[in-house]
Amino acid sequence: MIFYFSGNGNSRWVAEQVAQGTGDVAMNIAGFIKDKHTPPVLKPGERVGIIFPIHSWYAPRVVVDFVRQLQVPEDAYRYAICTCGDDVGKGMQRFSRHFPLDAAWSVQMPNTYIPMFNLDSTEKAQRKVDTTRGFIPGIVADIKARKPVWQVHEGALPQLKTYVINALFVKFSIRSKPFRVEGECISCGICVHTCPVGNIDLQNGLPVWSDHCVHCMGCIHACPKGVIQYGKVTRKRGRYHLESLLQLE
Ligand SMILES: Cc1cc2nc3c(=O)[nH]c(=O)nc-3n(C[C@H](O)[C@H](O)[C@H](O)COP(=O)(O)O)c2cc1C
Repeated sequence: MIFYFSGNGNSRWVAEQVAQGTGDVAMNIAGFIKDKHTPPVLKPGERVGIIFPIHSWYAPRVVVDFVRQLQVPEDAYRYAICTCGDDVGKGMQRFSRHFPLDAAWSVQMPNTYIPMFNLDSTEKAQRKVDTTRGFIPGIVADIKARKPVWQVHEGALPQLKTYVINALFVKFSIRSKPFRVEGECISCGICVHTCPVGNIDLQNGLPVWSDHCVHCMGCIHACPKGVIQYGKVTRKRGRYHLESLLQLE
């Protein structure tokens, strides 16, 4: 069984590729959060994979909350794959305290955090997707062989990033208030359906953000009119669509 969380499709795509290779079922953690379903009972000896994006050098809190209530048989093979723009700091190691791991990988995918950074150039984004696509068969083979693997790119100053910067990010940066609509909203509701934690409602035809945002940026990138902004800074930044990179295959 694979459980994945994804704001903008990167981690979902990796989960789908791994599911295809291993023959395991991939389930979206968002479904459990939004519909308040309890996760399925896992079978003895099952492979249990968690696939998620790195947010400020750690796992999004909803992923940590999810794995903490997961009942995993003792003889299960437990692995995690995180997708990141660059590096993960000690994020995977910290995650493994809540979900002890037999194997872990990090893979680079295009950056999605536009309140702070520009999108990667198309060439760079394509390179990351192609490189990760090339890694997947090896990851799948290791999972099927239940190998103990730790292939995680921590990058520079990993402790500082995961334990200090992440704490500041969670405390000061994860906010809903700066989200706004600037321009012509067509009330399509795509932002509502895209939000993996059910944090957006349409009121009088316009999106209204509640207070349990995880900052995945799904709403901003999914808006077909590009009219959702986060403060002023995202006005000049592009929007990310993984599909366009997969079509270039
Ligand atoms: C809030 C936020 C924080 C992020 N922090 C990091 C980070 O610390 N390190 C990194 O390499 N990438 C970071 N990224 C980039 C994402 O990890 C990367 O784009 C990921 O593949 C997105 O996956 P998704 O499309 O499944 O949501 C961040 C993205 C977001 C939205």
